[in-house]
Amino acid sequence: MTTTYRIDTIPGDGIGVDVTEAAVRCVDAVGAAHGFAIDWRVRDWSSDRYRATGRMMPVDGIEQLSDGDGIYLGAVGTPDVPDDVTLWGLLIPIRRAFDQYVNLRPMRLLPGVQGSMPGLEGLDVLVVRENVEGEYSTIGGRFGSGESETAIQEAVFTRKGIARVTRFAAAHARSRGGTLVSATKSNGIIHTMPFWDEVVAETVAAEAPEVVVEKVLIDALAARLVMKPTSVSTLVASNLFGDILSDLVAGVAGSIGIAPSANLDPERRFPSMFEPVHGSAPDIAGKGIANPVGALWAAAMMLEHLGETAGAAALTSAFEQVLADGTATPDLGGSATTTSFTDAVVARLG
Ligand code: NAI
Ligand code: MG
Repeated sequence: MTTTYRIDTIPGDGIGVDVTEAAVRCVDAVGAAHGFAIDWRVRDWSSDRYRATGRMMPVDGIEQLSDGDGIYLGAVGTPDVPDDVTLWGLLIPIRRAFDQYVNLRPMRLLPGVQGSMPGLEGLDVLVVRENVEGEYSTIGGRFGSGESETAIQEAVFTRKGIARVTRFAAAHARSRGGTLVSATKSNGIIHTMPFWDEVVAETVAAEAPEVVVEKVLIDALAARLVMKPTSVSTLVASNLFGDILSDLVAGVAGSIGIAPSANLDPERRFPSMFEPVHGSAPDIAGKGIANPVGALWAAAMMLEHLGETAGAAALTSAFEQVLADGTATPDLGGSATTTSFTDAVVARLG
């Protein structure tokens, strides 16, 4: 009997739509070859919907997603709608409602891809980003006017929140060389970041004592990831720091268009969400040249999460082979389109 998974699909805006189409085509091809099917519940939740209805998603949107096996998102954001509206109207509520507290962002040097410098063959960085608290908070506000106008933005860090993301990251670090790099800024940020350092150290000491924590200030860590990226393997970071560092590592590995992410509820109480790291890329939207690799890699992470391990491996190896053959979109220096790249991947999956 064929297993059918219910996946809510939110293509969103700009290139999110193109790369989601690529992911759906490839996953359907994997399913046909590996004995499973996907019931794609396509949602038109996007900036267009916001312009028409004043909401990015329906009032009961979260409820509609709650009985699915997972969520696949392209990207949201468009120049004429404020970015805080698009993100806080859709993406961030989904991450929080479903307690997707881990944002897992792996990056390797892919075959055939030119990284930022020679010698990156061993590049293999796993960013474990805290995904539901930290610097992204609604606490604060604006007051005053004229020269005394002021904005205050509070960050929220909880012991539970830091401990659980650290526990997840440490379990990965254990099988990835034994060192966990923790991104911090406890010299300048005097309340939350010393607390982050303390809870990271305590959690690892109590639950994974064989793992060594290397605490690195975010500014120096940024330079190190540019100059010696192979010196970092598993990295745990707060919501903001993990967001920034994962784009940085993707850039080092060749393009932000290849970076995948999984928003996970590791306890599997709720659906998890899979998406490329990149945004809607208004500068190339509509041109048909978006790199679908980040989206395909995210789809492979979704298959892995669903237990379709062989299918996940087949999809990963298919896009790697296409890249190894020298087919690539313009961001990687090639001349393929989103569609021609995807056609080549599908051909390898048949
Ligand atoms: P972006 O990731 O959309 O684009 C940054 C640069 O990378 C652009 O030059 C773009 O052309 C390029 N790029 C991104 N993905 C690519 C791909 N697959 N292939 C080839 N080139 C690619 O980030 P930006 O410009 O900061 O944000 C654009 C919009 O996306 C904003 O509205 C932002 O809020 C939103 N956004 C949404 C996210 C989401 O839905 N998860 C994540 C990040 C940004
Ligand atoms: Mg980001």
